[in-house]
Amino acid sequence: MQRLLVFFLTVTALGLSSLHAQFQYVLYDTDGIPPSVYAARRDSVVKKLGTTSVLAVVAADVRNRENDVDHEYRQDSDLLYLTGYPDPGATLLIVPAGIEIDGTKHTSVLFTRERRREQEQWTGLVMGPAEATKVLGIMARPVSELKATLEKVLASADSLVVPSLPTVMLPLPLGAAPVTAVKELTKHLASAYPNLKVKTSFPRLAAMREVKDTAEIRLLRKAIAISIEGHLAAIKKAKPGSYEYQVEADIEHGFKHHGAEDVGYPSIVGSKYNACILHYTTNRRKTNPGDLILADCGAEYHGYTADITRTFPVSGRYTKEQRTLYDVVLEAQDSGIAAAKVGAPFNAMHGAAKSVITRRLTELGIVKDAAEVSKYFMHGTSHYLGLDVHDPGTYGPLRPGVVVTVEPGIYIAEDSPCDRKWWNIGIRIEDDILVTEQGPENMSVALPRAAAEIEALMHAQP
Ligand code: GLY
Ligand code: MN
Ligand code: MN
Repeated sequence: MQRLLVFFLTVTALGLSSLHAQFQYVLYDTDGIPPSVYAARRDSVVKKLGTTSVLAVVAADVRNRENDVDHEYRQDSDLLYLTGYPDPGATLLIVPAGIEIDGTKHTSVLFTRERRREQEQWTGLVMGPAEATKVLGIMARPVSELKATLEKVLASADSLVVPSLPTVMLPLPLGAAPVTAVKELTKHLASAYPNLKVKTSFPRLAAMREVKDTAEIRLLRKAIAISIEGHLAAIKKAKPGSYEYQVEADIEHGFKHHGAEDVGYPSIVGSKYNACILHYTTNRRKTNPGDLILADCGAEYHGYTADITRTFPVSGRYTKEQRTLYDVVLEAQDSGIAAAKVGAPFNAMHGAAKSVITRRLTELGIVKDAAEVSKYFMHGTSHYLGLDVHDPGTYGPLRPGVVVTVEPGIYIAEDSPCDRKWWNIGIRIEDDILVTEQGPENMSVALPRAAAEIEALMHAQP
């Protein structure tokens, strides 16, 4: 059904309150994950769960801003991974023993909000049960049936796994402890089902998400290609006096212009001393000639995100000290990328990158010994990448199909205990690496990394 260029339903609205037909449900993007892949993932979960367990995956909650408008909605990644369902208010139940519906047993049922024209007039269209079944190929029912179904299946289950509960906490001023969804759920279930084991994580699902299938690699490649367009445009356009937010705007314009739905994480655009703050997102400073700009920005495409960092000189040439440290980070990154081999321990990339940085910073007299290096390189080198920028996984030996970042950095803040000529230099270079039997593949290789290439880009005629 996702293959159809345009899918639409013209279901007539039921109910006395509306004389209008439903809005036409249009599927604009047809290059998502095929329904058969979602079904295979759910089957794999069924096998891993065991016959007496139930898995409930709850949609992400809608976050509200000042009791007024809602923040842009992003679906829970586990639910996206298992169904592709995009809207709030849904819950997926996976029950290996089966849920009986109209005489047929289903191991997976998605419970969704029903479409209501009056509601959709204000807050937009949602996929109801009929659309979910047609588009995503899953048995779907109205969410009003969820409670009774869950009570029925829990009567004969011995454990319930709820891996993606909303993290909302309400720290009430006079309350004893913050109210959390996890606490409320476990409290309620403990009294209603005293023999039920409740787990709020499912490591086997994380292990599945760690290894990307063909469809996921395709979407990651697209997110990365779009991200490269944004970075390229911004690097070419930046000039002394540019504001950090203008660089951010040029990058994100490239993302949206090339079809990204969103950013995968808030864009980090830090110049000079701001480049030394790892997750700096204020992005308000005006640059001066000679500043470095660190841009860590990734586009999200159909739920998948890139994670790419480039550090470039706003004047178009690295200063001597900037270039020296840039080349250290580049060498560390090359070494880290080369270590991303099948079977290598997860920390192989970090070990390789850190040893280069340690050796070079010692040679340059910036540190006296290895113990001092973490003052200037204070984060890990790699994490998994996928639906989430920091995607889940086992952190075990690297397997084919795993996508990781390799992102060493050097950050020398003002007042650091080294020659002041190094102060206010912050550099990170980050690329997205696919682990394959043939060796590491840099998926973001099309975005120049070497200092001379970046300088050439900045001096190229538009
Ligand atoms: N963009 C966040 C990170 O690199 O981990
Ligand atoms: Mn990263
Ligand atoms: Mn990053």
